[in-house]
Amino acid sequence: MLRASIRATKTNITIVQLKIGAQIKMQRRGANHLLRYIDIHDSLYIWLPNMNIREEHRMKNIADIGNGKRNQMLEEDSAIHNWYQFILGYPPHLVKYYLNEFNIQQGDIVLDPFCGTGTTLVECLKNNIKSIGIEPNPIACFASRVKITITLDPNELRNYLGFILNSSKLSFKHLGIKDDYFIVDEPKTKKHIVLIKSIPGLNEEKWKVVPTGFISKKPLVKVLIIKEVINQIEDTRIKDFFKLSLANLIVKRAGNIAFGPEIGRTAPKEDIEALNYYFSQSNRMIADLEKFKHNDTKAMIINGDSRNLDHYLDNKLLGKINFIITSPPYPNEKDYTRSTRLESVILDFINSKDDVREVKTNLLRSNSRTIYVTDTDGECIKGFDRICKIADEIEKKRLQLKKNSGFEKLYHKIVRHYFGGMYLHLKSLKPYLAKNAKLAYVVGDQMSFFRVYIPTAELLAEVAESLGYRLVKIELWRTRLATVTKQQINENVLVLENL
Ligand SMILES: C[S@@+](CC[C@H](N)C(=O)[O-])C[C@H]1O[C@@H](n2cnc3c(N)ncnc32)[C@H](O)[C@@H]1O
Repeated sequence: MLRASIRATKTNITIVQLKIGAQIKMQRRGANHLLRYIDIHDSLYIWLPNMNIREEHRMKNIADIGNGKRNQMLEEDSAIHNWYQFILGYPPHLVKYYLNEFNIQQGDIVLDPFCGTGTTLVECLKNNIKSIGIEPNPIACFASRVKITITLDPNELRNYLGFILNSSKLSFKHLGIKDDYFIVDEPKTKKHIVLIKSIPGLNEEKWKVVPTGFISKKPLVKVLIIKEVINQIEDTRIKDFFKLSLANLIVKRAGNIAFGPEIGRTAPKEDIEALNYYFSQSNRMIADLEKFKHNDTKAMIINGDSRNLDHYLDNKLLGKINFIITSPPYPNEKDYTRSTRLESVILDFINSKDDVREVKTNLLRSNSRTIYVTDTDGECIKGFDRICKIADEIEKKRLQLKKNSGFEKLYHKIVRHYFGGMYLHLKSLKPYLAKNAKLAYVVGDQMSFFRVYIPTAELLAEVAESLGYRLVKIELWRTRLATVTKQQINENVLVLENL
């Protein structure tokens, strides 16, 4: 099987590097045009004429990836993406698929209006395509921003990593904290080591918004000490890089949390080996940057609300965006601010209940914890019979079943405000799209509200068509098991064109 990376693309030849001993099975028609090869060290360099520059990032045939694994990231794609991720995000190969399907080229602009942790932006960067992301959740927005800051100098980062490790080690020792620590190739530092002299903690306001039991005392103290050390770094871009690595430590190691896909509490971890993990994680991130350090493609992330794009996008972008690849939230009970709460609080993105509310105000109404009495998005879909009927049916079912909790009473409103919010999004997006721009929205059908079926892609297609978009197709991405009904339901890609 030819598994190779393209090394040079500026001329009309392509150089492919293969490890000696690798099995070479040429399936492309161009195989007969093999020109010549040279053998350097343990690699074989092969010249192929006129091979498509984008071959390297071509989508693996989706059909080759079984339904169960379709939403999982492939190992070969993981660089940068795995620095920090949403369980509810989509994998890089989905973005690759649409980069290929839409024939997106350098010079095009891709927008991801619900960009989460930046999967679309990072994949665009890897393919030298300009991209813009919009995201209101501050930690997700932060993660995307760090991931697209790929021009940091790896050697400088190693120097800072040495500073963080040595300062944390010294502070742990000073404060009587034991952290089993074994690093073979410890990075040297020229930086002046700092000492954290007292044990840090979270204040009362912060504790009020962290779900009970999400982190134990010893792991928290270790994380907070490393955070204080990182905060001494003056260069914001470097500081943020190491803060994101700390977010990874919080989610993957320090917190008593797991995702399935909802966030849940695990058995408490009394203690962790913080520095070993932090060192390996930061080192992996630096190694990833090494691969992309010569890439100067532009990407931008905006902290904003995609229901009002005119508040956030520059007028220079009017009529200029050629492609959308995105996945908005679905109408269900998933609360993204809760699944990112622990790291958001520890890293100071959310400090109080008011902060949580402020973030939620900018979110699409997709669950009962983001619905407020002042919400009006639902007004926009009053003329859409199918959507209104589904909302009415949900409320009728609630009354029949005598379900009277505050959350359940909001279910029918979620459906109205969700599709109303998507109406506002598609409306505010239109002026920024180039004529014939192509759009891919990954959305799941739902049955979370008293088992009433919500065909999300079909309903969004109706909303889009009313606003002057053409429905190109609804493609099945995968099926997944509905938590409540244990039935397989569809996750689709709604493909639209701007007329
Ligand atoms: C399904 S996730 C996207 C995940 C993303 N594709 C990734 O791979 O990380 C949906 C995202 O939409 C964001 N979101 C919710 N309401 C929004 C709004 N009004 N404007 C922009 N983004 C919003 C959520 O915070 C969440 O990060």
